[in-house]
Amino acid sequence: MKFLITAGPTREALDPARYITNRSSGRMGYALAGAAKHDGHEVILISGPTALDVPAGVDFIHVESAQEMYEAVRDMVKYADVAILCAAVADYRPVAYSEQKIKKDGERLIIELERTPDILGSMRDVFGFTGTLIGFAAETQNVEDYARGKLERKKCDFIVANDVSRSDIGFDSRENEVALVFPDHTEYLEKDTKEHIAMHIIEHATIIRR
Ligand code: PMT
Repeated sequence: MKFLITAGPTREALDPARYITNRSSGRMGYALAGAAKHDGHEVILISGPTALDVPAGVDFIHVESAQEMYEAVRDMVKYADVAILCAAVADYRPVAYSEQKIKKDGERLIIELERTPDILGSMRDVFGFTGTLIGFAAETQNVEDYARGKLERKKCDFIVANDVSRSDIGFDSRENEVALVFPDHTEYLEKDTKEHIAMHIIEHATIIRR
């Protein structure tokens, strides 16, 4: 099977020196790419900036912004049987990019932000993707309920939900603890390394038949 996996954060530039980003290390997404490759699948990994090595044998596309990730996914999704969107895509970006470094000439600086394109939400209705679709949900409360809402709205086969209010799992940690939220049930995976969690997710992804 062919997997398309997104990973890492995006960077939304304010000026040549500054950007808005988040704490994603890319580990969860890279672990998914490594696990899928290990199981003999072809993998396209589309990633924002990270400090990680790309798993051997994986096709790699580096992006910076949410817009670039959107365009890379749009262009590559036709090759995929399974798409797993694990990236922590910025939800907002600066409305204006300053070509010059913004000067600190006031006590306050107000930055206007606008929504970025919703990549997961575009998969079915805009990109026409008919393969297996797996989204992530990074929540700090009502984790399973919010994930179930995303599952329905984004037309996913399942959602991998994690609690990002905890420092021992989720963002920038070596381990994770997730709930796999399916339309008719939820499966809880105990806290484990991201590599082991990834193996379970890939296993589930390959047995779904659409
Ligand atoms: O990278 P690590 O340090 O290993 O951390 C892993 C992780 C915490 C980043 C990962 O486990 C995780 O939760 N990834 C999803 C992060 C996220 O942005 O969640 P969300 O609930 O805001 O978004 C829901 C889904 O929509 C995600 O599949 C996301 O990729 C997608 N999305 C979000 C915004 C956007 N503009 N387009 C999208 O496609």
